[in-house]
Amino acid sequence: MKVVIAGFGTVGQGVAEVIGMRRELFQKGFRQKVTIVGAFDSSSLVKNPRGLDPEVLVARKAGTGRVGKRPLDGGAEEFIEEYDFDTLIETTPTNIVDAEPGLTYIRTALNAGKNVVTSNKGPLALKFRELTSTAAKNKVQLRYEASVGGAMPVINLSRELLRGEQIYSLRGILNGTCNFILNRMKDEGLPFEQALREAQEMGIAERDPTYDIDGVDSACKLAILANAIFGRDVTYNDVMRTGIRSITEDAISLASEQHMVVRLIGEINDKRVEVSPRMVPVGHPLAIGGTLNIVQLITDLAGDITVAGRGAGRKETASAVLSDLLALMNEGRGKRR
Ligand SMILES: NC(=O)c1ccc[n+]([C@@H]2O[C@H](COP(=O)([O-])OP(=O)(O)OC[C@H]3O[C@@H](n4cnc5c(N)ncnc54)[C@H](OP(=O)(O)O)[C@@H]3O)[C@@H](O)[C@H]2O)c1
Repeated sequence: MKVVIAGFGTVGQGVAEVIGMRRELFQKGFRQKVTIVGAFDSSSLVKNPRGLDPEVLVARKAGTGRVGKRPLDGGAEEFIEEYDFDTLIETTPTNIVDAEPGLTYIRTALNAGKNVVTSNKGPLALKFRELTSTAAKNKVQLRYEASVGGAMPVINLSRELLRGEQIYSLRGILNGTCNFILNRMKDEGLPFEQALREAQEMGIAERDPTYDIDGVDSACKLAILANAIFGRDVTYNDVMRTGIRSITEDAISLASEQHMVVRLIGEINDKRVEVSPRMVPVGHPLAIGGTLNIVQLITDLAGDITVAGRGAGRKETASAVLSDLLALMNEGRGKRR
C-alpha cells in the first residue's frame, strides 16, 4: 500500500514512525509493504514513488521544521489528485469553523479514488454525511478511528466486533483535559482557575483552553460517534453542549459529600446527543481519574461494554491510525484496483 501523509506534526510523525516499526507485521501478516511515497506539512512537500524513509522524514522535520525540501506552494490538492498512491493519511489541525484544510484534502482524495484514514475531527464533525457518501460513490474507504479518543478503539469496536448488537446508547468521557481538571479540583480542593493553570503548566491543557473546557472537543467527538455508530445525521452544531468553566469548588465538595464526583459526560441516546457536567457515583467506571478517555456502550445482547484508553499522544494516536490501515489491508483495500 502506497501512502501519503498530509500534515506532519505530532500525529503525522507518530504515524511515520509506527509504519517503520511495523514493517514485519505488514509483510508477515498481509504479504504487503506499506510505503510512504509522499508527505507534506503547511509549507513543504516531499515525494518519492519508490518510498521514503520514515526516520529521515522525522529527523528532517525536527532539524528544519519542514518535512520536505520543496515548497508546497498551495499545490496539495493537485498533488493528492494526480500523484499515484492508495491511501491518504490526513493529520492536519482540527478546524470546526469550516473544517479546512482537511476537508478539501479528504474530499479530493476520495474523489480521486483513494482511501482516507484521518485523525482530524473537523471534517467529520461538520460534513460526515457528505464525506461518507463520497467514499461510497467512489468505492473507497474513509476510516477515522483516531478522531475519537486517540488509542481508545471505540469506532471499530462498535462497527465491526459489535456489529451483531443493537447498541441502545453510549456515554463516556471524551476529553482527558477536563477530566484532569475536575479530578484535581476534587483531590486538592483547588478552584477551577488554579486547576486549569496547573494543567497548562503540565502541558495537558492548551494555552487557549476554550476548545477543551467549553466542551467543543467532546461535542465534535460525540457528533462523530452519533453518525458512525447510531446512523444519525448530526453535526457538531446539533450537539447540546455545556462545558466545565462554571463548576465551583462548592459543587465539587457537595458532590463528594454524596459520594459522587463531577465528570464531563457525553451521552447519545434516543432523546439526546449532549455533553454536560454530571454527577457520577464514586466507584462507577465513568468516575475514572487522570487523563484517560472512557466510553460505555449499552447493548441488547452483550449488556454494558466499557472501553478506556489514552485519548491523545503521538504513538497512541498513531496506533489508532495503524488499526485503520490494517483494516484496509485486511479487506484487500490496501491497494487500488
Ligand atoms: N495530538 C493528538 O494526540 C491527537 C489525538 C487525536 C486526534 N488528533 C487530531 O489529529 C490532527 C493532528 O494533530 P497533531 O497533534 O498532529 O497536530 P499538529 O502537531 O499541530 O500537526 C498538524 C500538522 O498539520 C500541518 N498543517 C497545517 N496546515 C496545513 C495545511 N494547510 N496543509 C498541510 N499541512 C498543514 C502542520 O504543518 P507545520 O508542521 O508546517 O505547522 C503540522 O505538520 C488534529 O486534527 C487533531 O485534532 C490529535
